[in-house]
Amino acid sequence: MFSILTFFSLLVLISALFFHHYRRIRNLISKDSTDFKITNYFFWQVKRISGLFKTSIKKDCQKLLHKVLYLRYPTAEKWSIILLSLSFVLLAASGFIYALFITQSLYGYPLLLHVILGGVFSVCLSVVVVLQAPIYSFNKEVEFSKDTFERREVKKHVTVAQKILFWLFVIPGLLLALTALSLMLPVFSLPAQLVVIDIHRYSALSALLSAIAFTYFTFINDVK
Ligand code: HEM
Repeated sequence: MFSILTFFSLLVLISALFFHHYRRIRNLISKDSTDFKITNYFFWQVKRISGLFKTSIKKDCQKLLHKVLYLRYPTAEKWSIILLSLSFVLLAASGFIYALFITQSLYGYPLLLHVILGGVFSVCLSVVVVLQAPIYSFNKEVEFSKDTFERREVKKHVTVAQKILFWLFVIPGLLLALTALSLMLPVFSLPAQLVVIDIHRYSALSALLSAIAFTYFTFINDVK
């Protein structure tokens, strides 16, 4: 059930983000949305996907690293964002590879690595929430300034989608830490532990989906 839901929800999310990207580009080209044809969309998607294999992944990673390293946040904020992202990617990889492709659940060195990364993830998540909560709060309009690489100060507007997705990442992130910690306490019976592991898995899935959508909306907001 968990594997089917994971593959299905990832497929639906990535298709929806592709479609959103296509509509955005189309709206930038022509304001007239009445001439939308689904065939054009599929041709555009095939071209995009085939283009993925042409572009050098190395170049894209360099661009991404460049963007992240030149994040003009204060050092503590910048490194907590970088460590949070890195630990999350490695946690998702170690957790989902075992949950989706290996019959046995996480054990041995992969589990040890997962729990160590979990500690880094929990600390960085709390730092990022404390430092970024004002930017992603709903009760007031906040613009934050970010210098570009050319040292030009740019006022950045955070969209409602980014705010919702930020908290949709934080809540399961908190649940992930809580479920993992409760697994370490000798209070739950085996059936209860299995329920806690399931809550951990589904929190991981919702954290992953909101992280993908948040990254997408942050990047398209950045290129504006
Ligand atoms: C907050 C820190 C975290 C800690 C301490 C932690 C700890 C653990 C532990 C101890 C298990 C093994 C449970 C068992 O089968 O007995 C586990 C499983 C798992 N974790 Fe985490 N985890 C954390 C964060 C995450 C994150 C951020 C993700 C993914 C986004 C994730 C995804 C998974 C998955 C998918 C499994 C199930 C693996 C399986 O089916 O065998 N975890 N985690």
